[in-house]
Amino acid sequence: MWLILVILLSCSRERERVRETQLFTAEWKFASGDHAGAEEPGYDDGAWRVLTLPHDWSIEGKFSPDHPAGTAGGALPAGVGWYRKTFRLGDPDRRKQVYLEFGGIYRNGEVWINGHYLGKRPYGYSSFVFDISEHVRFGEESNTLAVKVDNSLQPGSRWYTGSGIYRDVWLITTGKIHIAPWGTYVTTPDVKPDHAGVVLEVTLLNREERPESLRINTEITAPDGRVVAAVTSTMAMKETSGIVRQTFDIRDPQLWSVETPQLYRAKTLLYADGELTDDVDTPFGIRYYEFHATRGFSLNGNPLKIKGVNLHHDLGALGSAFHRRAAERQLEILKGMGCNAIRTAHNPPASEFLELCDRMGFLVVNEIFDMWAKKKNKYDYAMHWEEWHERDLLDWVRRDRNHPSVIAWSIGNEIREQFDSTGLVIARELAGLVKSLDTTRPVTCALTEQDPAKNFIFQSGALDLISFNYKHTQYPDFPGNYPGKPMVASENVSAIATRGSYLMPSDSIRVWPAAHGAPLEGVPSDFTGSAYDNVHAYWGATHRETWNTVANYDFIAGMFVWSGFDYLGEPYPFPWPARSSYFGVVDLCGFPKDSYYFYQSLWSDIPVLHLFPPWNWQEGETVDVWAYYNQADSVELFLNGVSQGTRAKESGQAGVMWRVTYEPGTLRAVSLKNGITVLEKEVHSAGKAVRIEMEADRQHLLAGGRDLAFVKVKITDARGITVPDAANRVNFEVKGAGSVAAVDNGYPAGLESFRGNGIKAFNGLCLLVVRTGQEAGSIHVTAHAEGLSPASLELDVKK
Ligand code: GAL
Repeated sequence: MWLILVILLSCSRERERVRETQLFTAEWKFASGDHAGAEEPGYDDGAWRVLTLPHDWSIEGKFSPDHPAGTAGGALPAGVGWYRKTFRLGDPDRRKQVYLEFGGIYRNGEVWINGHYLGKRPYGYSSFVFDISEHVRFGEESNTLAVKVDNSLQPGSRWYTGSGIYRDVWLITTGKIHIAPWGTYVTTPDVKPDHAGVVLEVTLLNREERPESLRINTEITAPDGRVVAAVTSTMAMKETSGIVRQTFDIRDPQLWSVETPQLYRAKTLLYADGELTDDVDTPFGIRYYEFHATRGFSLNGNPLKIKGVNLHHDLGALGSAFHRRAAERQLEILKGMGCNAIRTAHNPPASEFLELCDRMGFLVVNEIFDMWAKKKNKYDYAMHWEEWHERDLLDWVRRDRNHPSVIAWSIGNEIREQFDSTGLVIARELAGLVKSLDTTRPVTCALTEQDPAKNFIFQSGALDLISFNYKHTQYPDFPGNYPGKPMVASENVSAIATRGSYLMPSDSIRVWPAAHGAPLEGVPSDFTGSAYDNVHAYWGATHRETWNTVANYDFIAGMFVWSGFDYLGEPYPFPWPARSSYFGVVDLCGFPKDSYYFYQSLWSDIPVLHLFPPWNWQEGETVDVWAYYNQADSVELFLNGVSQGTRAKESGQAGVMWRVTYEPGTLRAVSLKNGITVLEKEVHSAGKAVRIEMEADRQHLLAGGRDLAFVKVKITDARGITVPDAANRVNFEVKGAGSVAAVDNGYPAGLESFRGNGIKAFNGLCLLVVRTGQEAGSIHVTAHAEGLSPASLELDVKK
């Protein structure tokens, strides 16, 4: 009986929906270049290309050193482009309020509906909403939406931005009396083990001509779906807007943490004179945390070192077009390394990225600007600063303040105003704006100047949390210089490495970076050791050295490695043809570099024994063999069965190393704890390349055109061992319920298009990204390369 009642209740709840949020990404038309009159509904776009958003036209282009964005911008084109879309709204929608939400347009998005100019948004990373109710037609008549994107002024950024409507768009319809866009705000001011006080603030808008009497019902559901609290409020709404505040008491709250990212949900229903006119779901987490001046960071009362990485917004070969699955995969890979935090360098991410962090358990330092009024590039955001920074900042906080993952607002990165008194004024203004919308999170700013007497942003007194980039050797002075202030290392390391390439003691620069013949700055002239943990930008430091410092001091809340993944642009220190970064712990394809396992051995609970490099060298050559390991007290290495000795890490060492004279065969490492084997790992010399092997990250995909499979492609010998320097060109054929979305090999100086049907392997590997189509079915993938046996695989696509 009870069960039936519960089911009936939940069915009736499901039916109680007025708000419709429709993904508005299909059937757009696109043309590059400027097109006079394209905002007019009657404009003939018959010859334009039909595509599905999100879309980044830069990534479709050819690499060239002549593109005005330069290699810092990925050596890809920018320019101007137009998008158009026609759509109908049903007659019943006449009584509705209609909004359009853009996740992000890079850059200078200008929007028209039926020829009416809705406005412009210069900052390419801001999400924004237009109320189009007054300008849309209902019933038989169609509507025309036109968007101009202008990313032509270059250089406009220090990294690759992409160009176009590169995030999702939504069409939202609600009742005339409704909850404002981003109009709910949840806080958890009082969290105790046995109960939590939750406050929900709802901003209401009345677009009727008359006052209304309103009822607002909110139910809170626990992570398991049970309703655990409910509040009904009433109000007479005489004005066009109002705020209602509801408080809830949740017993035995299940706290959100990085290990148990449990989400509650506030379901708000709005009734005007008894009629349901809007409903909004607000996911949230119950958690509390502290940045402490001596104890560092704690979450829910438990000390937690922040083990973070910086991420730029691009998704490698997919460009900046936001694909939820690609971002989810990045986070899965980082989770596997033991990473628990992301800094969104240096701009607001897609809102779905924060949803993923909420769901997967990542802490986020949400950053908004790379510059304020003083520019870093001729045409960067500084040119819009005066007019737009307030609006961009307020929209950023409004959009993101319900995410439990977000633990700090960073108002800037390496801002030039830290060096002069304008920093005092602007920092106070920005922090004040943040605080006008959210006082539950600290305001920070990533600084480089660690001398408080010289740092005006610090002197503004506006920062609750001090963030420093690099210069870890000065961290021990922090408590003396900044008494009583909490601190986090917002950016560190900037190590330079290419996946699968190694420097050897005997021949320094033979294998890497000779890959494209460029000189390697930063390698000391007396360099004799292996380069695995030694090469970094001059402002950075090794992974090992940085982590040792951060781990050593409790007052340091944690660190963010620059960078989690390689990203497009900023190929420091290499000139063209290098066009993407070398800083990642993971390459552009998502293939880990060796440093990934260094962190995994220190940051994760996973038993690790990572043995490298691959075992194909010149007979008689001296090779440094390394092992990163944990959960063991030593490692013994064998070459072709002969022990090369047992090594134990000394405190602060990254791993253990053996200098070995090369002979082909098998390296075997055994990690031991109290003499008992923990893990064994073998690396075999590869023979001749004979075949291709493919491995998809997921076998079952969803139809609908938005799901992706990432297929790792290996060139192997007859025994299935990856040939470490294989560079065969692999051609793909994808048939059935999917198509090729992108190809890549992780080589930062590669000039083959990401949009081809094939690519050369780089150091034995390449990547194929497959996108599902609208329909269910199977996807058949085949890979061919001259002189190698082909490979094939099949993926299922379900509705
Ligand atoms: C930092 C900067 C980052 C990136 C990095 C490369 O100084 O904040 O955006 O440029 O250097 O090492």
